[in-house]
Amino acid sequence: MGVANKIRKTIQLLKHRRRLQPFVNSSIFFMENAEQSIWGSITEEDEAGIEAAVASASLHPGPIVEIGALFGHTTTLLATLKGTDTQLIAVENFTWNPFFLSDDEHRQFTKRSLRYILKNCSTSIYDGSAEGFYSANQDMKPSMVFIDAGHDYGSVRRDIDWAMQSGCPVISGHDYHKEIHPGVVKAVDESFGSDVRIFGSVWLHVSEGLQS
Ligand SMILES: C[S@@+](CC[C@H](N)C(=O)[O-])C[C@H]1O[C@@H](n2cnc3c(N)ncnc32)[C@H](O)[C@@H]1O
Repeated sequence: MGVANKIRKTIQLLKHRRRLQPFVNSSIFFMENAEQSIWGSITEEDEAGIEAAVASASLHPGPIVEIGALFGHTTTLLATLKGTDTQLIAVENFTWNPFFLSDDEHRQFTKRSLRYILKNCSTSIYDGSAEGFYSANQDMKPSMVFIDAGHDYGSVRRDIDWAMQSGCPVISGHDYHKEIHPGVVKAVDESFGSDVRIFGSVWLHVSEGLQS
């Protein structure tokens, strides 16, 4: 690259630094925690937990509900593992992504990436907040809930509480990691005590007597 090009690039970087800074911070976070999370999604080790969860859920009627889909990596994994007739509902309000896309860009990216499973795999997106989904579905009894939206204590507690009051037999989620997500660990420990299996950073609770 010639000197003039380098200067032009530097000027561009300075000009856009406000928009680039959060992206740089996000990149550093995911580069330094690559064993915990891949750009906000799951690792291969975590996948084993989701596989065990879906196997347990397959013994029960009711939809699988995912809270927090991001770009649909776990949605696609759940759709791949579930029975073809089992409904999968991914609840996503498009408020966070690691690349700082706008809400609309994020929505379009995810919906286009999931086009095949939305059309062919009994899968739908609830485009709205978890809170809205819970109040619209007070009588739903899912076979499994996978929790991976807000990672603060209050959000995880709210998601677990809805899943428990629904009578859902298989409750699972992501980011059980004391240093990075203490709120997740606190909410899970408080709700289930030692009755939880951990796979990487996926946690899994199966109601007593229903273990597969
Ligand atoms: C960590 S990402 C989910 C990652 C995804 N499960 C995966 O592993 O590929 C969290 C997602 O939850 C969404 N989210 C956060 N709070 C939410 C809420 N209250 N209702 C619905 N979605 C929410 C964010 O927009 C984000 O896309």
